[in-house]
Amino acid sequence: MNVFVAILAGGSGVRMGNSDKPKQYLMLGSKPILAHTVEKFQVSGLFESVIVLCPQAWVQQTRDLLRRYCPEFFDQIVITAGGSTRNETVACAVTYIEEHFDVDEETLLLTHDAVRPFVSHRIIEENVETARRCGACDTVIPASDTIVESVDSASISAIPNRKNLYQGQTPQTFNLRKLEKLMGTLTDEEKNILTDACKIFVLRGERVELVRGDVSNMKITYPQDMRVAKALIGE
Ligand code: CTP
Repeated sequence: MNVFVAILAGGSGVRMGNSDKPKQYLMLGSKPILAHTVEKFQVSGLFESVIVLCPQAWVQQTRDLLRRYCPEFFDQIVITAGGSTRNETVACAVTYIEEHFDVDEETLLLTHDAVRPFVSHRIIEENVETARRCGACDTVIPASDTIVESVDSASISAIPNRKNLYQGQTPQTFNLRKLEKLMGTLTDEEKNILTDACKIFVLRGERVELVRGDVSNMKITYPQDMRVAKALIGE
């Protein structure tokens, strides 16, 4: 059975506020964030190919950067353009794999945010095992804050029980053919609402199992996250 990983690096990092490059290219210690993330999947040895999806204008620079920072594994990396939303980037990965590799009903696709460089081997392994068994899984941690829902942005409409709430991380791993089939059933309106690939499965009544994430598997979104990330690698 073949397993692929799609590193989602197609965003522009508006909330990071850095105008000269998207946040996945910022240096973290000795190498860019993206190179740390790619390395985690290469050393795991579980994947037939690591597919990095980046903004169209960054394809050549991404290739040069990964050749420089991940030289031992460079021949297993594919660099290609992502889409205008995160889900479109996932769809680009599915299309690329279908067009360039042999896939079958068992093929798995693990998707991971390029800006979560601290993913562990345990999380990666459990994703592959769980998706192999169940067809889809999501990495989560129990919600630490009380989550308050407000429909009108002015007053509380609900306070769901915290013990039933989790914060979503990545990886999210899917049976490739099942993901492709479900994506193909979405209306344009659903595409706008479904910002998360697991939500597509849930909306269509498909089971998505939980994999235990880790607080350290943080997403680098704001400048203060960059300071935490630098502290985590001991800089
Ligand atoms: N992503 C992607 N393709 C897009 C948008 C996002 O591959 N069209 C990726 C980002 O590169 C990132 C991950 O999805 O690795 C998580 O998204 P987020 O943190 O929201 O990244 P950005 O969209 O880059 O950030 P912002 O919303 O601040 O612009």
